[in-house]
Amino acid sequence: MDKLFITGGRPLYGQIRIGGAKNAALPLMCAALLTHEKVTLDNVPYLADITTMAKLLVQHGAALSLRDTSPGTLFHPATPGHYSRELSLTCETINNIIAPYDLVRTMRASILVLGPLLAREGRAQVSLPGGCAIGARPVDLHLKAMEALGAKITLEEGYVLAEAPEGGLIGGEVHFEKVSVGATENILMAATLANGTTTITNAACEPEITDLAQMLISMGADIEGLGTTTLTIRGVAALSGTHYRVIPDRIETGTFLAAVGMTGGEVELLDTRPETLRIVIDYLQQIGVEIVEHNTTLRVKRDITQPLKPMDITTAPFPDFPTDMQAQLMTLLTQAEGDSTLCETIFENRFMHVPELTRMGANITVDGHCATVHGRTPLKCAPVMATDLRASVSLVIAALAAEGSSTVQRIYHLDRGYERLEEKLSLCGADIQRTR
Ligand code: UD1
Repeated sequence: MDKLFITGGRPLYGQIRIGGAKNAALPLMCAALLTHEKVTLDNVPYLADITTMAKLLVQHGAALSLRDTSPGTLFHPATPGHYSRELSLTCETINNIIAPYDLVRTMRASILVLGPLLAREGRAQVSLPGGCAIGARPVDLHLKAMEALGAKITLEEGYVLAEAPEGGLIGGEVHFEKVSVGATENILMAATLANGTTTITNAACEPEITDLAQMLISMGADIEGLGTTTLTIRGVAALSGTHYRVIPDRIETGTFLAAVGMTGGEVELLDTRPETLRIVIDYLQQIGVEIVEHNTTLRVKRDITQPLKPMDITTAPFPDFPTDMQAQLMTLLTQAEGDSTLCETIFENRFMHVPELTRMGANITVDGHCATVHGRTPLKCAPVMATDLRASVSLVIAALAAEGSSTVQRIYHLDRGYERLEEKLSLCGADIQRTR
């Protein structure tokens, strides 16, 4: 199994190009199931989760092609670290409505095929998902939403069996008791081909949902309320193909901002969208990390001789602070002068990085869903491992600033969500190597 070997204490200087957002690309790929025409996606990141989704769609009947559009060649791009890919999917016919356990268990986002399959084929059989070990992560909200559109749902032998009424799904009122990104995406896709109008209230309004809605509109869907918590979808008879560009990854952006906050130095993050991570930028600036915006570029700077300020952070749905940035900010706050509190309201088991950070010298106490970081504590090297994607990257950030050489194990989690992390960091001067 691959490991990262990191020698800390080097400031980061240079440029990093931000890739396409994994969490946007996955639902956009599923939306290709809604049409028999070709859907082409630009700026698709090369990640394990994207490969898993591609495999899932191919076994449903999609024909797939991948074109490298980086300037230069695939392995030697004109701008080092700059990779760009165009992925085309054509689902002329759906020849299999089963999403099998073997694929679904490795990635929770596989549940997103449920809505499109049900809308187009009138039935779907999807294994209950697995994914990161950050809590129970049920799919009840997805299923209730499908029922609100007339679907009959049963659970059998670990599979969700879903069947639309004769004549297809029927537009209806979907009210989410809890905000869910995935359930909003799933029902949004299903409603585009339903008979009549669907209204979704208390919808998630993350930038990835707006991106999905925009792509669906480019395919001929009729959707109102983009960027708000109420979406109105008037079903159409058919959707067409499209060519669409995936938005930049706001969590990758925020992760590199936090990394420079840890190590010191000055880095330009290119091809990002600052408005998608406004609260992360604001909080980092309040903590003492300098960030200057210029269109799609963020310049981040930190002088490590200057102290960082502690901060209290609570995760919540967009536009509030994202749970996917909680671990990285916790690492940074170990370097603040004083106590900070981080409260996690989205997932019940998302402090798995705490024991590992503690082994590196952090002083953190956890009480229920809140953690108090007692700063400032110098970090020291240690062998560490993590059990989810964002926890793993928070340990990488810690190791970049720690004294000595650390190994980060189980980096298959990182490969699910960060494209060529070690290459991007070493181009900015980090001492980081992948070993097998
Ligand atoms: C998505 C993101 C993930 C992010 C999360 C929250 C993708 C591929 N993943 O995950 O990176 O951390 O949003 O911003 O986009 N819940 C239920 N029942 C359901 C569905 C969800 O109780 O049917 C709960 C979850 O357990 C969790 C909360 O709702 O406590 C939010 O989860 P949700 O927004 O659905 O997360 P995902 O879409 O899985």
